[in-house]
Amino acid sequence: MHDTIHPVPADWSQSARVDAAAYEAMYRRSVEDPNGFWAEQAERLDWIKPFTKVKNTSFAPGAVSVKWFEDGVLNASANCLDRHLATRGDKVAIIWEGDDPSESRSITYRELHAEVNRFANVLKKLGVAKGDRVTIYLPMIPEAAMAMLACARIGAIHSIVFGGFSPDSLAGRIGDCHSKVVITADEGLRGGKKVPLKHNTDTALTKTIGDEKVLVIRRTGSEVAMHAGRDYWYHEIAATVSDVCEPEPMNAEDPLFILYTSGSTGRPKGVLHTTGGYLLHAALTHEIVFDIREDDVFWCTADVGWVTGHSYIVYGPLANGTTVVMFEGIPNYPTNARFWQVVDKHKVTIFHTAPTAIRALMQAGDEPVKSSSRASLRLLGSVGEPINPEAWEWYYRVVGENRCPIVDTWWQTETGGVLITPLPGATPLKPGSASWPFFGVQPAIVDADGKIIEGACEGNLVILDSWPGQMRTVYGDHDRFEQTYFSTYKNMYFTGDGCRRDADGYYWITGRVDDVINVSGHRMGTAEVESALVSHTKVSEAAVVGYPHDIKGQGIYAYVTLMHGVSPSEDLRKELKNWVRAEIGPIATPDLLQFAPGLPKTRSGKIMRRILRKIAEDEFGALGDISTLSDPAVVDDLIANRQNRK
Ligand code: WT7
Repeated sequence: MHDTIHPVPADWSQSARVDAAAYEAMYRRSVEDPNGFWAEQAERLDWIKPFTKVKNTSFAPGAVSVKWFEDGVLNASANCLDRHLATRGDKVAIIWEGDDPSESRSITYRELHAEVNRFANVLKKLGVAKGDRVTIYLPMIPEAAMAMLACARIGAIHSIVFGGFSPDSLAGRIGDCHSKVVITADEGLRGGKKVPLKHNTDTALTKTIGDEKVLVIRRTGSEVAMHAGRDYWYHEIAATVSDVCEPEPMNAEDPLFILYTSGSTGRPKGVLHTTGGYLLHAALTHEIVFDIREDDVFWCTADVGWVTGHSYIVYGPLANGTTVVMFEGIPNYPTNARFWQVVDKHKVTIFHTAPTAIRALMQAGDEPVKSSSRASLRLLGSVGEPINPEAWEWYYRVVGENRCPIVDTWWQTETGGVLITPLPGATPLKPGSASWPFFGVQPAIVDADGKIIEGACEGNLVILDSWPGQMRTVYGDHDRFEQTYFSTYKNMYFTGDGCRRDADGYYWITGRVDDVINVSGHRMGTAEVESALVSHTKVSEAAVVGYPHDIKGQGIYAYVTLMHGVSPSEDLRKELKNWVRAEIGPIATPDLLQFAPGLPKTRSGKIMRRILRKIAEDEFGALGDISTLSDPAVVDDLIANRQNRK
């Protein structure tokens, strides 16, 4: 156990928005009087019609329902744009940094407002109306944020699909919510490589109903096929519409967006977030966790294809009138100093990234970091997966020069915003611990029987009551919502994470306890990778598990049983890895693939993943009881041919 403690620096406890005493008092109030606390906090938003009800939520079996501010009316885009015009019209909203270091662009709040209004009118011209779904499949260009806010402006529900996903994955997500329009670009640009987004969209649309329209943004200028009557250039329609579009009055519980995420079973789920509670939670956590000031330049390196980009590049920061950096590229292009050069170039004050990036840059040594000044930095953030104490200390010492607190923020696509986190002016930091619950969040740890355990302990992490940013349902499948999150433990939200609480009450997330792997901070369901593998004609059966990976946190380890008569070979191994890559996307590519003549199964035919995990970890000395296997001999073969030899 790592028990280094970095006390709250004196200047931080004096100047921060929330110090230790304020945290105590506000936290207590938030859980003892949630209606009073959240009603006050909700004043930070502009309401078209004020709410009279605050919290109306139930985790009861068969009756799970989450509503906040249910009779209030507001518009998210007006909250992110219009209300800033009087005081911040000429303030920069988005600093866009291109993949190529010579490309960048600043957009003021006034300009962003005009562009979003125009974009909203383009969508209207394509027939998009309140409640319609719009899929966004874009690179990290300002138009991605504009597209989101344009949807929000007219009450359309956006569903962003990360640009790294395959045509098949895109098709599944377009189809599940039956999007009316897909917004894409000719191509994306990442690390100097072009990503054929329009081409992928064309392929995806051969697998959907086929009544979708496509709105194409010009990014690289490469020639792409345009299908008359289906595909439209954004710039052509934009030239014909005005830049005035009144924001649609939305009920607080009207959907704002859908975001697909992987679970332990089946296809990705459409996590649905609504307008009022989500926006409040994103804005409040952004302001308090990152101690946001008017002159901050906030940079979160996530992609808007993930929830982190939704909440901490777009909705949270813009609702707070903050200047954000939006980065198109990757950490190691053109060199390993890129992040720090961008920090210096734009005088970034708060830098928020993922442990996988920190570990990769740490491996590249201190030199690229030290080649920059980083004098503008005052606070660092980490998100997406547990950060190992070694990476934490390097981030603290080398990147932050022992000057910047680190907020390790734990949350999920489902939670809308941060739930467990240090506050920089309140929380003594323990490297590797997400530390304490945010306001209104009641975490608990349960044992194997679902009994809440107290004090220092380890078990599964649940949340006992609702918070405003909580997902409302799985799009089109409320049963699945209940089943996934509320059936394991009654009357509690189950996070899917394991967790330890130490004697000081700090929470330490230990990782997923379900069949979800966290690869470089990206969630991947083992079932999805398995189903991609078995869709290959040479594969009869597949089982996929995670294993510890130095950079990615977890790597993907696939066990594959081939069809009768097919022989294993290095070429086939490559072919199968590429197959998964093409089926789902590069992030799903198995790191290791083992040909297994048989998989360890119980007599009832259930695959014993515990054993597969142990072998993948190269820990086969501790397999435990294998006597219930129908054929214990398969284990010897699996061990003999294991792929991860330490
Ligand atoms: C899963 C959620 C949070 C938005 C990005 C990922 C893991 C996330 C942390 C952290 C330890 C973390 C959990 C969680 N996770 N942040 N600070 N410490 N684990 O969102 O794709 O929905 O994944 O990421 O396992 O359940 P997501």
